[in-house]
Amino acid sequence: MKLVRYLSLFAYLAIHVLANTEKTIFIAPPQRSISEQLAHLKLHALNPASSSLRAALPVAFPIAEANKQAQGVQSWYLLSNLNPGQRYEVRVCWAATQPTTFWIDTFDTTTLLDDKELLGQVNEFSQRQLQTVPPLGENHPSSVLLIRIISAADFYSTNASLMLNPPPVDVDIILDPFIGNIFPKSLVPTAAYIVILAIGSWLVSGAVWKYLSTGRFVEGNKAHAD
Ligand SMILES: *[C@@H]1O[C@H](CO)[C@@H](O)[C@H](O)[C@H]1NC(C)=O
Repeated sequence: MKLVRYLSLFAYLAIHVLANTEKTIFIAPPQRSISEQLAHLKLHALNPASSSLRAALPVAFPIAEANKQAQGVQSWYLLSNLNPGQRYEVRVCWAATQPTTFWIDTFDTTTLLDDKELLGQVNEFSQRQLQTVPPLGENHPSSVLLIRIISAADFYSTNASLMLNPPPVDVDIILDPFIGNIFPKSLVPTAAYIVILAIGSWLVSGAVWKYLSTGRFVEGNKAHAD
C-alpha cells in the first residue's frame, strides 16, 4: 500500500502550472560573420549558454477580423551561437490568465537584410528599446537567427480602461536544442517520469495479478463468491 501511496504522490508532478505555449521549430543556419547593420541592433539575445528570458511583451487588440497577425505588436530577439545544422525550438510560455495569441517566426540574416519591410520593422523595434542591450559586437562568424514574436490580446472585458490599454503579457522565451535532432532536451525529465511510471505500473499490476491468482483472495471471500 505504501508503494501505491508513493506513486500517487508522483501524480502531482504531472500537474503543471496552468500555462499556454506557442513554439516554432527550426534548423540552425550556417555560420556567417555578423554585419555592421546587425551588430548595432538593440535586441536581447538568447544562446545555448543563456537559453531563457523573461519578458513583458506589449500587446494590442486586433481591430479587424482579417489578418489579425498584422495588427499585433512585434517584439524581436536574436538567437546567437547556435550549432549549425542542429534542430532547435523556441517556446513562448504565458499564463492562461492573460489570454493572448502569438505568432512566432524566425528569419536568417540574409533574408532579413534583403527584405526592406522586415528590416524596417526590426529597426523600429530596436529604436523603441529603452533598456540598454549588450551589443552583439563580435566579428567572428556565428550561426545567428532573428526571431519575431507578434502578440495580440485575445480577451474581452467590460473594463474600458483594460480594453484601451491591455497590460503587457509576462512570458518566458526558451531556446531548447533537440537531442539527436529528435527530442527536445527540456522534455527529458518528463519522458523519464513517464518511463518510471510505466515500469512502476507494470510491477504493481504484476504483484496484484500474483495476489489474485494465488486464490487467497477468493478463499477469504467465499461467502460472497458463491
Ligand atoms: C479596470 O482595470 C484596471 C487595470 O487593471 C484597474 O486598475 C481598474 O480598477 C479596473 N476598473 C474596474 C471598474 O474594475
